[in-house]
Amino acid sequence: MGVATADTPKAIRTPATTELPPGPDWSLPRTMWHWWRRPLPTLEECRARYGEMFTIRLPHEGTWVFVSDPETVKQVFTGDPTLLHAGAANIVLLPLLGEHSVLLLDEPDHMVQRKLMLPSFHGKRMQAYREVMARAAIEEIERWPTDVPIRMRPRMQSVTLEVILRAVFGVHEGERLTRLRGELRATLDLPAKPRRALFMVLLGPEHLRRFPPFRRRIDRVDRLLFEEIRSRRGATDLADRDDILSLLLQATHEDCRPMSDRELRDELMTLLVAGHETTATALSWAVELLARHPDERERLEAEVAGGDGAYLDAVIKETLRLRPVVALVLRKLVEPMEFGGRLLPAGVSVAPSIHLVHRNPDVYPEPDRFRPERFLERPAGTYTWIPFGGGVRRCLGGAFAEFEMSVVLRELVARRSLRTAGGAPEHPVRSTITNVPSRGAEVLALTRKAS
Ligand code: HEM
Repeated sequence: MGVATADTPKAIRTPATTELPPGPDWSLPRTMWHWWRRPLPTLEECRARYGEMFTIRLPHEGTWVFVSDPETVKQVFTGDPTLLHAGAANIVLLPLLGEHSVLLLDEPDHMVQRKLMLPSFHGKRMQAYREVMARAAIEEIERWPTDVPIRMRPRMQSVTLEVILRAVFGVHEGERLTRLRGELRATLDLPAKPRRALFMVLLGPEHLRRFPPFRRRIDRVDRLLFEEIRSRRGATDLADRDDILSLLLQATHEDCRPMSDRELRDELMTLLVAGHETTATALSWAVELLARHPDERERLEAEVAGGDGAYLDAVIKETLRLRPVVALVLRKLVEPMEFGGRLLPAGVSVAPSIHLVHRNPDVYPEPDRFRPERFLERPAGTYTWIPFGGGVRRCLGGAFAEFEMSVVLRELVARRSLRTAGGAPEHPVRSTITNVPSRGAEVLALTRKAS
């Protein structure tokens, strides 16, 4: 436990207490059960019992101090990134993403990669992907039956994979697209089953990296990725292309060096892993919620038909508030730091809980209700609406994801009218790091005349 001494950095005032916040004193199996099987109720129960700040100790992952008060969340997101490491907290992804991944780096190395990638994800660039996104959505929607319930999650996974292949990797058709799609799908499926994901976590990144079945899978996908990177590097139309790989191939480090093949491979894999399942999950939740809320669905259908986008944006914001895809983000303390009147020791991870921040009744009256209008009445707050995290680690693909959701939902609502397939509302269940609808967002998608 760290205490304030003469050597304590100036930023740290004398704290009210140097104890870790309270938290459950569970055995290892009980902690694993709570955290893997019911993470969101566990967070809610802990907040009700211990208050805004509480501690959970997780085997293999360390000590996490959860925070949800907007002022403390702001302090975490605006804190010095040299003292608050996010990359170290994602180390479990190293064998899949590789050592250059922007998600895994910290301090100057992180800023170098982030700066190379930021321009490609600027909000203003998103229009370039409208057509690719709409086409992927329409091709998928046209395959859906009209009279039997369908599970949205796998359907949305194919849409978002197609969008990444075309908009990010820039591969549009032919045998290469088929091979890449197959290999990437198989790689993404590796941690899709909770038991396999748990096995991978328990094995730890170093052992997993050398685990032969895992190695073989990564080698197969890497061969295709390197092939694509090398052939694109030599493309004569590189400067005219819009896809993110082509933009990254033209980006340069401060000393004018282009990104290496290895850097590009790691960032492509990062964008795939960070952007595919997350956006598919968010879209599935939007569909599940709209199918269960006829007034909101009808208003959206009318506004989309009239060409207005404000309500659609509000539906997206409210979906990401009520059903955040990721429940928390992590920052590991390099030095002791004070949060909420407590001096937390180095090595502890501070975890702004997206789920709890979004359920704060002072910010969101009737927090459990799906009410998109709240975002027409009041804009989303930087530290109270945080589905994409915040600060210098805020999701690079936030604008991309919101834009993709708006394009896909617009095409969907124009063609199909969503109805519940019956049964109780779906609740979030854990799938690796995302919280997905318990029955995969099962709905009826009735035919509508295209407007
Ligand atoms: C609804 C969809 C998405 C959600 C909910 C989401 C959420 C998040 C969150 C919570 C973080 C961590 C932020 C933090 O630590 O403060 C993150 C990081 C990141 N996301 Fe997303 N994301 C989504 C879509 C995407 C897409 C489409 C892409 C790219 C194609 C993407 C790329 C990234 C990258 C590269 C990072 C790492 C940023 C860094 O460390 O500097 N994400 N995302």
